[in-house]
Amino acid sequence: MINLYQPTITKKDIKSVTDSLEKTYLSGNSPIVEDFEKKLAQICGTKYALACSNGTLALHLALISVGLNEGDEVIVPSLSYIASANAVKYFGGKPVFVDVNEDDWQINTDLIESKISKKTKAIMPVHLYGGVPKLNKISEIAKKYKLKIIHDCAESLGSLYKGKHSSSFKDVAIHSFFPNKLITTGEGGLLVTNNLNIYKKAKKIRSQGLRGSEEYDHDIIGYNYRMPAICAALGISQADKIESNLDKKKLIFERYIQNLEKEGIKFQKSDFIVSSSHWLTVIILPTRLIRNRLQEHLYANNIETRKVFKPLNLQKPYKNLESKNYYPISEKISNLGLCIPSSPNLSIDYIDYISNKIIEFIDS
Ligand SMILES: Cc1ncc(COP(=O)(O)O)c(C=O)c1O
Repeated sequence: MINLYQPTITKKDIKSVTDSLEKTYLSGNSPIVEDFEKKLAQICGTKYALACSNGTLALHLALISVGLNEGDEVIVPSLSYIASANAVKYFGGKPVFVDVNEDDWQINTDLIESKISKKTKAIMPVHLYGGVPKLNKISEIAKKYKLKIIHDCAESLGSLYKGKHSSSFKDVAIHSFFPNKLITTGEGGLLVTNNLNIYKKAKKIRSQGLRGSEEYDHDIIGYNYRMPAICAALGISQADKIESNLDKKKLIFERYIQNLEKEGIKFQKSDFIVSSSHWLTVIILPTRLIRNRLQEHLYANNIETRKVFKPLNLQKPYKNLESKNYYPISEKISNLGLCIPSSPNLSIDYIDYISNKIIEFIDS
């Protein structure tokens, strides 16, 4: 089977983990976790980074660290992985959905203001499939309505906006290191920010709300969201692959375009000021039926694919909340989109093989 995504684990990665084990660096308080954080902060171009147990919890941590409370509304794009909305629900907040653009699939900034109410306290731009939303416009809106911005960059490590890492923008951002991401720590997440207050608060909440250096003295309710040292050890070694993985992913995306665009297949577009990490290559087919049949055809040929996320407003936990609202572009992309194999180690021969199987199906 050609997997949708296959992480590359090298001998160097294994050595990094076994070295950590030999030193009995195990917990989230081990020095190696800070080494990982420093390395990633430098790569993302932020002053601070906090390693977390996974991206979902890093997102929850980011939301509460900017000061959001029960009852607060957060603007979230209707097309995303369910973790984006769930993290808002964890603190008793309400995700308010906004549809996405047809070309780049990012939150439609022209629709945001119509969804802002007195209760709106934040915007969560999701940098979907490695693309980047219109950050300038989002920052203007946030300034006008005094809203916080929490970037869900789970899928976009390595993406740039005007030459800067897209997670380095105000106020705070998160990444995920799940095995299908650009680099992996097994499970793992990261909060990055340039804001010292957010960093300090997030660090405290991540470690059970410890007041200061006094033992067992906690003045707020926190969580244990730390990343284990073994995961950080893998992350330190994996981080050396970021640049080469980005180069390979660009090549994969461009090769699929070269092979398939002439067959009428559409791809995610990017603004010229964006450099996408091309997390997963997604193709857009003419109808939902064709997309579903193509998925079956590829599976029969040992090629693993995945549909695009189901829009958040159609997910059971959010359906009643949203029964009167319609997000046509999210639904369209979700119905027509298919994620195709995009592992950094995918050879040109395999890309051509997969492309030929797609063309063979379309021609039949
Ligand atoms: C947009 C988005 N947000 C959040 C997450 C959650 O990250 P994790 O799986 O590390 O919890 C993901 C995971 O893929 C994601 O795609």
